[in-house]
Amino acid sequence: MPSNAILTLDDKQITLPLIVGTENERALDVRALRDKTGYITFDEGYGNTGSCQSSITYIDGEQGILRYRGYSIEQLAQQSNFIEVAYLIIHGELPTLEQRKQFSGMLTENSPIHSSMEHLFENFPADAHPMAILSAMINSLGCYYPHLATNDHERDVETYYETAAQIISKVRSLAACSFRSSRGLPFIYPRRDLPYCENFLHMMFSEPYHQYVAKPEVAAALNLFLLLHADHEQNCSTSTVRMVASSGANLFASTAAGVCALWGPLHGGANMAVIEMLKSIHAEGDDGTKFVEQAKLGKADKRLMGFGHRVYKNYDPRAKIIKQSFYSALSALKIKDDPLLNIAMRLEEAALKDDYFLSRRLYPNVDFYSGLIMRAIGIPENMFTVMFAIGRMPGWIANWKEVASNPKGRINRPRQIYTGSQKRDFVPIDQRR
Ligand SMILES: CC(C)(COP(=O)(O)OP(=O)(O)OC[C@H]1O[C@@H](n2cnc3c(N)ncnc32)[C@H](O)[C@@H]1OP(=O)(O)O)[C@@H](O)C(=O)NCCC(=O)NCCS
Repeated sequence: MPSNAILTLDDKQITLPLIVGTENERALDVRALRDKTGYITFDEGYGNTGSCQSSITYIDGEQGILRYRGYSIEQLAQQSNFIEVAYLIIHGELPTLEQRKQFSGMLTENSPIHSSMEHLFENFPADAHPMAILSAMINSLGCYYPHLATNDHERDVETYYETAAQIISKVRSLAACSFRSSRGLPFIYPRRDLPYCENFLHMMFSEPYHQYVAKPEVAAALNLFLLLHADHEQNCSTSTVRMVASSGANLFASTAAGVCALWGPLHGGANMAVIEMLKSIHAEGDDGTKFVEQAKLGKADKRLMGFGHRVYKNYDPRAKIIKQSFYSALSALKIKDDPLLNIAMRLEEAALKDDYFLSRRLYPNVDFYSGLIMRAIGIPENMFTVMFAIGRMPGWIANWKEVASNPKGRINRPRQIYTGSQKRDFVPIDQRR
């Protein structure tokens, strides 16, 4: 394979090196392009741009492959759990038994939130969106733990594992508090004896006079949901985290920015859009058949939500896995006659047989099932994106570390093609029309 590419521009030839990743991903290294030629590359939306070199997650969208630190998502889903996978992503290796115990201990120690932080929740309007609260609260953690948020990357990297454990543990408590404050409900303190997902469900749904006990299948479905969302390489929110980190910002500030990026409907909102689509199909008295026909007309507002993916042009590997756990959670919860579920199953069946979807390689993505799972386990719709944020936290944290510990790292600063007015003279206000 050649190690260089020759580019001819304005009768001048320059040599550009090629970079090859461990899975044979190939890139043209254009870092010297502007210096040598005065040209920049233009790639709106960054579809052809590698913004970094990373050793965390590998995706092959054509083959439907997803691996964290080299381990396939299928093996991790079958043999591991969210907390072990979080450790893997954050530390780079699977933990030994001792390391796992120590990590779990750190999560237990760090789960309560500072008592004065609890009062911050009281000052949000009653109907504040939990994503806004979550982002504000994660950023605020830097005020309560200033020694972990110095904005000096060398010092912040030294305390990285402690900060990472703080965030992984506290994001769950903060998420539950943001839900309860949005409902005007009292906060429920974490319990030291419960595993991660059970503890989260307890903080969400227990009452001072009634303990919520999660069914094992429900906790398992939540665990799997979080594991499947733990990282997805350079998506919008992860790129945001890296962008913010590149300025020297601390881990709390950078991951809070990730929450904001995830909030947008084109990113973290798709699982909620699936439920909204199913509700509107149901309200119109359709069983899904009419909607599939409309979706085939190619109108953007009638897309079959939860189908298709920008990267996966084969079955989303996460969708295959979550679909199985979905049915066991439903049977544990004895959910049979949910009209939305029936519509979803009809849509899936129809689309998987239809040439329109098959020829465009549009298969169900993880969001098609994850919204239904969240709904089945009682998570309110405005918390769906919050659940995604809890799951994605290990990936954001590990990506921050790659930026913060890169000795050659530079602030991220893309360029642009200017299309505004050319130079013109200032017009005094009394002469303007
Ligand atoms: C995810 C998504 C944005 C990917 O888009 P993309 O890779 O840019 O694909 P395109 O928008 O170029 O679509 C390719 C073709 O498939 C069609 N298409 C894509 N997704 C479709 C869907 N969900 N329903 C119906 N048609 C769809 C497009 O109309 C286009 O048809 P054409 O070739 O006749 O013009 C898109 O599939 C989508 O909007 N899906 C629904 C939203 C969703 O589930 N998002 C969550 C992603 S995790």
